[in-house]
Amino acid sequence: MFITFEGIEGSGKSAMLELCRALLASLGRRTLQTREPGGSPLGVRLRELLLNVENSRIIPEAELFLYLADRAQHVREVIRPALETGLDVLSDRYADSTVVYQGYGRGLDIENLFQLNDLAVQGLWPDLTLVLDLEVETGLQRAIKRNRAQGLTEKEGRFEAEALDFHAKIRAGYRAWTERHPGRIKLVDATGSREEVFARIEPWLRGLMAGCP
Ligand code: TMP
Repeated sequence: MFITFEGIEGSGKSAMLELCRALLASLGRRTLQTREPGGSPLGVRLRELLLNVENSRIIPEAELFLYLADRAQHVREVIRPALETGLDVLSDRYADSTVVYQGYGRGLDIENLFQLNDLAVQGLWPDLTLVLDLEVETGLQRAIKRNRAQGLTEKEGRFEAEALDFHAKIRAGYRAWTERHPGRIKLVDATGSREEVFARIEPWLRGLMAGCP
């Protein structure tokens, strides 16, 4: 199974990914946990370029192709081989991030982004995508606190530094994109405790497992 986690900054993707991984492991499934950008050795270097606040002059098209390069390498080198050996892959962000951030956020054409993503991933789309939905103010406060705690303010703050209305566009973009793919993408209310949010996710996960070897 291939499951991706999406949402605005601070929406709790990583925590939900970890709870899903623990549930799958407790049921005897082997998992691979990964993320974008930065899920391959090349991707680690691209992540540094993409999230560094000093690179704020990067134009939307250049940003797009760096994300696609990260993803193409990630799929070919990490995700596909893992799926082929029977692992469940859980990724913190994937192709939908590009449609939402570079499309709904930066204004690039959504249909083009879908086609370019499809090329980068060679047709590999997730079985399930969970979009964690939260007020942007709440998410950003959490993200800034986390970055400070991890000492990331200097290096990885480029997106957190965007204006509030950019993040509002991202949240609205996720909701609009989810409506266009109701089968694969599920919108999850990310308010409340970790346990409460996970309880909303668990039925999707179990439903998917029921249909997977
Ligand atoms: P994160 O790993 O902390 O979630 O941060 C990654 C940032 O990169 C986040 O602000 C969203 C952004 N991003 C894009 O703009 N496009 C993409 O395709 C991906 C994967 C991430």
